[in-house]
Amino acid sequence: MEGVHVKLFHQGSGRGGRDGELGCPSSATVPAGDFPLRNPRIPSSPITCDLEIGSPAMASLHDATNGHCEPRHEAGCNGDARASGAGNGGSDCARPSKRLRPSPIIPEEIRCEFAHHDPAVARLNNGSFGSCPASVLAAQQRLQRLWLRQPDAFYFDDLQPSLLRSRQVIRSLINADHAEEVSLVDNATTAAAIVFQRVQRAFQEGVYDKGDAIVMLHYAYGAVKKSAQAYVARAGATVVEVPLPFPVRSEEEVVAEFRKALGVAKEGGRRKVRMAVIDHISSMPSVVIPVKRLTRICREEGVEEVFVDAAHALGNVEIDVKDIGADFYTSNLHKWFFCPPSVAFLYCRKSSASSDVHHPVVSSEYGKGLAIESGWIGTRDYSAQLVVPEILDFVNRFEGGIDGILKRNHEKVVEMGEMLVKAWGTCLGSPPKMSCSMIMVGLPGCLGITSDKDAQKLRRHLREEFQVEVPIYYNVQKEGEDALLDSTARITGYVRISHQIYNVVDDYYRLRDVVNKFVKDGFSCQMLPSNSCEAVSGQHVVA
Ligand SMILES: Cc1ncc(COP(=O)(O)O)c(C=O)c1O
Repeated sequence: MEGVHVKLFHQGSGRGGRDGELGCPSSATVPAGDFPLRNPRIPSSPITCDLEIGSPAMASLHDATNGHCEPRHEAGCNGDARASGAGNGGSDCARPSKRLRPSPIIPEEIRCEFAHHDPAVARLNNGSFGSCPASVLAAQQRLQRLWLRQPDAFYFDDLQPSLLRSRQVIRSLINADHAEEVSLVDNATTAAAIVFQRVQRAFQEGVYDKGDAIVMLHYAYGAVKKSAQAYVARAGATVVEVPLPFPVRSEEEVVAEFRKALGVAKEGGRRKVRMAVIDHISSMPSVVIPVKRLTRICREEGVEEVFVDAAHALGNVEIDVKDIGADFYTSNLHKWFFCPPSVAFLYCRKSSASSDVHHPVVSSEYGKGLAIESGWIGTRDYSAQLVVPEILDFVNRFEGGIDGILKRNHEKVVEMGEMLVKAWGTCLGSPPKMSCSMIMVGLPGCLGITSDKDAQKLRRHLREEFQVEVPIYYNVQKEGEDALLDSTARITGYVRISHQIYNVVDDYYRLRDVVNKFVKDGFSCQMLPSNSCEAVSGQHVVA
């Protein structure tokens, strides 16, 4: 079928003892969702209300309120170093759980929360690595001190109830039914490994036949594509890629390509499609994919499972996992949900498939369900995962909480994107409704971006000479495709601009003015020394 690339890869293909002190100090005797918080030294959660987290009463409160407990906050706590209590090793952590609502955040406080950012840099790339406010970093440090103060008590009494509390917060944010469906892992890359390793086992154990297909978007993230190759294609799967148009004009274009690719994958019904991997927000180029529609189509067409790679989603678009209806859904918390690096959740809808997902790092908790397995992967720093309730405190200081933040970020990034388009005489890479807090903006064609290397060289040049941090995408022209033109030349490169609460209009003006100066001076990428290209050629490019 025209336009659909089929990639064929056909290749062959302890029990965790728990000994009390040395094994995992957690869940062997205490089932998930029923952790008694014997020693509540961990700062109390904004969603705990008056109840102990994890107690049956807590669970019923969640059910009764549809998972939306009223957040509470400490009076006067604006979350900065003053409020951290970081030095006292936890004595202020045994506070009662009643917390008063703080006043709404003001611009000066936002500046303080991000005062650790390099002030010289116009940071237009929240998308790659996210950002973490000072109050959340302080809360994380407080937890680290608490841990180091008495590690045994922390591991044996506090860790698991507190991880559960974080999972409960996420469960309610994404509208999952059960905390057991939500596991905390390091990042979306780990989540993808978990999902693909299950598929790999199904091939290796003969549950799936060699040649059965998985479908994924051509714009899937590089690491996720490599994982699909390493785990799934090597085990015998046929990987079918869905080409997507870019610039994209409508959801219909995406849906049409997806249907075509499914047709190829199914080979007129002769081949089973075991899984579709769908991005919620693709990375480069950044486009919001109609993931609910595509999941529906998968169900209609007999695709067995859907895995949504939503690495950029939490805090960037609204998420309702039940409404989307996928089997697996992962998002980072460190990109758009203000979490310190690195935390992601993996939602596994309750099903027979989800009972066979395992953390790649096997511990004494192996076999107790992914959420429990992921809660103990050996001695390590779990503080980033524990700080999730404090993030809720932070975002709830903004009008509308996280939903208000993402809505305003979207409006602002569209406004900035349109401002740049006007200044450069180019176009957006997608309609605003297919963007989130990131949007693609065409660069003037005269900059001469003719390869990925050119895009990397230009990005580095902007960083080093102008202190502008922005990812650049080279749009390979496919044969027969009409190139979009600016006033003088083809548009071959796009910047991906982000907007987060710390951004100011001047950040975008800096980018606008630098590019305008390039045009005026007759600059092109070919003028950049090739050694700056070599310097980046071996590098892993993160988008
Ligand atoms: C769509 C997508 N998937 C997966 C990842 C990997 O995320 P991480 O590096 O946090 O594992 C990214 C990172 O940007 C991404 O954009």
